Amino acid sequence: MADNSIPSFKAADLVIQLSSTLKSKPDVFSFGTVFTDHMLTIEWSATEGWQAPLIKPFGNLSLDPACSSLHYGIQLFEGMKAYRGDDNRLRLFRPMLNMNRMANSSKRACLPAFDQSELLECIRRLVEIDEDWVPHTNSASLYIRPTFISTEPSLGVKKPSSALLYVILCQAGSYFNNEAEALSLWADPKYTRAWKGGTGDCKMGGNYGCALFAQYEAVDYGCQQVLWLYGEDHQITEAGTMNIFLHWINEDGEEELATPPLDGIILPGVTRQSILDLTRKWGEFKVTERYLTMGQLCSALKQQQVKEMFGSGTACMICPIGHIIYQGENLHIPCQDKNSQLTSQIAKELTDIQYGRTPSDWTFLV
Ligand SMILES: Cc1ncc(COP(=O)(O)O)c(C=O)c1O
Repeated sequence: MADNSIPSFKAADLVIQLSSTLKSKPDVFSFGTVFTDHMLTIEWSATEGWQAPLIKPFGNLSLDPACSSLHYGIQLFEGMKAYRGDDNRLRLFRPMLNMNRMANSSKRACLPAFDQSELLECIRRLVEIDEDWVPHTNSASLYIRPTFISTEPSLGVKKPSSALLYVILCQAGSYFNNEAEALSLWADPKYTRAWKGGTGDCKMGGNYGCALFAQYEAVDYGCQQVLWLYGEDHQITEAGTMNIFLHWINEDGEEELATPPLDGIILPGVTRQSILDLTRKWGEFKVTERYLTMGQLCSALKQQQVKEMFGSGTACMICPIGHIIYQGENLHIPCQDKNSQLTSQIAKELTDIQYGRTPSDWTFLV
């Protein structure tokens, strides 16, 4: 339902310029390098407001070299997917959560507001136009990258007077399978991904660019990702670009699935929310948003109270964690094999919804 109180572009005004030559699709799904035939662009300026949305052939942008997204990182993005179901219908998964997160990031970046449902309808049209790119398999999908940048052509650090919202699409293979190797994480409190009062709960490019240096140090230590810690008590916050879950017997002897609370330093993941909603509905164990520290994890590991740990995100869905290097120790996380698993049960229920095998109001038909 459109919210008429927000000055916004309207999907009904969409202008469509189809590409005269279609690209050949790659044989393998290599993430983020080959994009589909079309893109969506929507321009905004303080004087003219939002322009009509445009779907046009994928191509380069032309930006003023002084543009403030390039100098001060005034920009943000989203990540979501379209799945082709067994019934050949295309579905998005809880897309309004992405739209709402994008609106929050826009507000924090001083970029203009827009009507989230109008953007979703424009994205739906873009995916529909490039629907041949949505893989015909249950193990891949079409990745959707909405992006919003300041195009302010001046070096003053100020609220942008012009901006460009655009959406590009590429194919994505599956990150998750039952054979998935468990992740190794490197935890060192000397680096911080996000802090209270900062922008860790927004999907702004700066959060990711800043994380790269630590990521390469993790690789030097033989690990795949950084386990981001926070504060004097080394709170566990996120793993790489994933939310994190601990399945354990907690201090009160209760079986619990725990993930850190949304206190401003955690990205409010769509997968995180879905895992919380799903496991709360099952009612099989306590499901909690709570602080978890490395101290608590280490003592639970010593007492063999940890069942498993995993990361969650749109890219991988669920990724089991196998080791953590912390304060010179290599902590072995009991990693579930194919049979036990909470992770495979969650992955199955979520993919059944995404690929339309289980009807759900979490899906949005393209
Ligand atoms: C820092 C961070 N945490 C968590 C997530 C997982 O979020 P989602 O489940 O919406 O993909 C992402 C990915 O977007 C991320 O970048």
